[in-house]
Amino acid sequence: MERLQKVIANCGVCSRRKAEKLIVEGKVTVNGKVVRELGTKVSEKDSIEVMGKVLEKGQPLYFLLNKPRGVITSAHDDKNRKTVVDLINIEERIYPIGRLDYDTTGVLLLTNDGEFSNLMTHPSGRIEKVYVAKLNKTIQNKDLVQLKKGVFIDDYLVKADRIKLRKTNSDGTCIVELTIHEGRNHQVKKMFEGVGYLVDKLKRERVGFLTTGNLKSGEYRSLTPKEVHQFYVLAKKK
Ligand code: URA
Repeated sequence: MERLQKVIANCGVCSRRKAEKLIVEGKVTVNGKVVRELGTKVSEKDSIEVMGKVLEKGQPLYFLLNKPRGVITSAHDDKNRKTVVDLINIEERIYPIGRLDYDTTGVLLLTNDGEFSNLMTHPSGRIEKVYVAKLNKTIQNKDLVQLKKGVFIDDYLVKADRIKLRKTNSDGTCIVELTIHEGRNHQVKKMFEGVGYLVDKLKRERVGFLTTGNLKSGEYRSLTPKEVHQFYVLAKKK
């Protein structure tokens, strides 16, 4: 038996908090009866409806994709472009956790588990994301320092948890490694733009303890139950 709000969140319909709100508002039924009690426990056999829609209870699924360039991070695209979900060959409905830009490559997680998705994206979980960026010109030391101190993007101060210059190229470009734990829209590109650099290429090399490992561009694998558990441990102890 599981708590109703957890079951709803685990199906990927919404966050647990949103599920609690819907329950209290009388928008959830169990076996045809409106349930407003937050502690209500339900089992596999119960039929749950959220705002008139039957909850499809599937196995929770978790995937790690090595996202290629030129694919949209979304479950659907209005313009019918290829999405990251199209790359995962399964029937079940899943969605990406967070967002990588069309031209960004690297580690992307996908799931149908709303609770896991919330855990991974909430800044309080402080899950590290390591990006490797190719910049249009060699970065000055003072700008590395500034990115650590913080830059304003859209009136919000964001800081690099860690930053280091990996390589300077003979054509004047350079490769920088940047670690952050938030996931604002275009955050990395905006941070570099904030100190005067353009990102020519961007790869997410690591999320928490996960790298793309042996996965080639466009390849994916399931997370092991141990890896899922490790993310819960990582996010909760922060
Ligand atoms: N920051 C960006 O600017 N782009 C991404 O794809 C991810 C983080």
